[in-house]
Amino acid sequence: MSRIARDGVSRSRHFPAGFIWGASTSAYQIEGAVNEDGRGVSIWDTFSHTPGKVRGGDTGDIACNSYHRVEDDLDLLSELGVGAYRFSVAWPRVQPFGRGPVNRAGLDYYRLLVDGLRRRDILPVATLYHWDLPQALEDAGGWASRDTALRFAEYAELLAIALGDDVGMWLTLNEPQVAANQGYRIGTHAPGHTNDALAAAATHHLLLGHGLATRAMREAHADIGPIGISLDLHPVRAGSEDAALAAAAVDAEQNRIFLDPVLHGRYPLAARLELLPPEPLIESGDMELIATTLDFLGINYYCPYHVRQGDWEDLRKDETPVAGHPGVVSYVPAALNRTIMDWIVEPEARFDLLVGLGSDFFVMPPDTTENGCATEDYVNPEGECNDFERIAFLHGHLDAASRAIDAGANLAGYFAWSLMDNFELAWGYQRRFGLYFVDFATQRRTAKRSARVYAEVARSGALPDRDDVVRPRDVAPPSSRSAQPAVAEVLETG
Ligand code: FCB
Repeated sequence: MSRIARDGVSRSRHFPAGFIWGASTSAYQIEGAVNEDGRGVSIWDTFSHTPGKVRGGDTGDIACNSYHRVEDDLDLLSELGVGAYRFSVAWPRVQPFGRGPVNRAGLDYYRLLVDGLRRRDILPVATLYHWDLPQALEDAGGWASRDTALRFAEYAELLAIALGDDVGMWLTLNEPQVAANQGYRIGTHAPGHTNDALAAAATHHLLLGHGLATRAMREAHADIGPIGISLDLHPVRAGSEDAALAAAAVDAEQNRIFLDPVLHGRYPLAARLELLPPEPLIESGDMELIATTLDFLGINYYCPYHVRQGDWEDLRKDETPVAGHPGVVSYVPAALNRTIMDWIVEPEARFDLLVGLGSDFFVMPPDTTENGCATEDYVNPEGECNDFERIAFLHGHLDAASRAIDAGANLAGYFAWSLMDNFELAWGYQRRFGLYFVDFATQRRTAKRSARVYAEVARSGALPDRDDVVRPRDVAPPSSRSAQPAVAEVLETG
């Protein structure tokens, strides 16, 4: 795929041999079949069925119906030519009430999936928790209760025993930041609480659950595959010198509150006290458990935040107050574009993040477990979905990844979010992140143009010249989007 341009310089970038190319999904977002084969109720079932919580009243009841279309969806992965598939296990399928004996039929689904992946020579990468807590555990206090962390470790052990021979890599939690902040502080995700104390407790118990689960899995299965955690990391950029302190505090609250415990066994001092788990919740030995050595770090990267000083009483059009930091606003730099999620597109921030982590993380190759964007996709009368904006996004972020590797970042893989359009949480079906277009009325999947580009990158291990895959006229200029930036009450994603 190496391409020599007119000036004699090869423009395509090559990824290292063995680099893992993958695609990601999560259980509640794609499976459907919520009442089948003994599956218990999850907090997302309850939340999505609560009026006003999800756009258009959408639910994951059917989603992509992947539970019943597992062979077809495995074939999509083969067609895409990826070497790895990151899926999540629905806890309430395996333990309907979050505790007790395994529900065989639920587990069989994941056995089928894992065997199907192995047959196709695709590495199964399993996330244990992508936010679908069994409702019975939420009724007993959810992640605000320490007991949930203990139950999580039992569930993890059970999966290690059942699937440990065949799952290639494990992720304990997906984005605990989102689970704690959106689920317990802002209420935009299940279970929908709006309480700082509950969120601070959930923060600690999610992290504790990660540590306990990691230990339990290693004890249960001597040859368990590498175990990591997926953290959503958002570089926080200060737009002016006087915003540097605020940027450091926001970074602590957004990123370091999860990163520092996992890596160094401590909570960051720069975070506001009310966001930190209170001392009495932190029992002796907890922080050591949380900092149990990771085999790899999964980074979900979508966007950075830019902050500066601003007048909360007289906000400019592109400014949003940063909660808890009076006089500080997040904003969208004029030169940067945003996706329809209002998330800033800045591959350079990803470069900085990876290079920055590279020196900290030399023993743990980070793996980008999610990256992608929502665009306004449709299938035209010729049956094509020409999602040039997504191609430009992927190209920019893969280019940044490749440059980061050259600069010393220890990046081992890349997983596109997502294999196919799916239930995008509070946005329901109104946001499409897939490489495959899903017609939710017929469940027909159509490869978008981005899927073909990504397949070629995965096959060749090389990124083509941008001009070969993106036409400039198909990518909106920065000023063309007028909506407000994404940073709401507390900085949020998801
Ligand atoms: C991430 C989530 C994932 C998906 C993407 C768009 O925060 O992990 O489930 O919703 O955002």
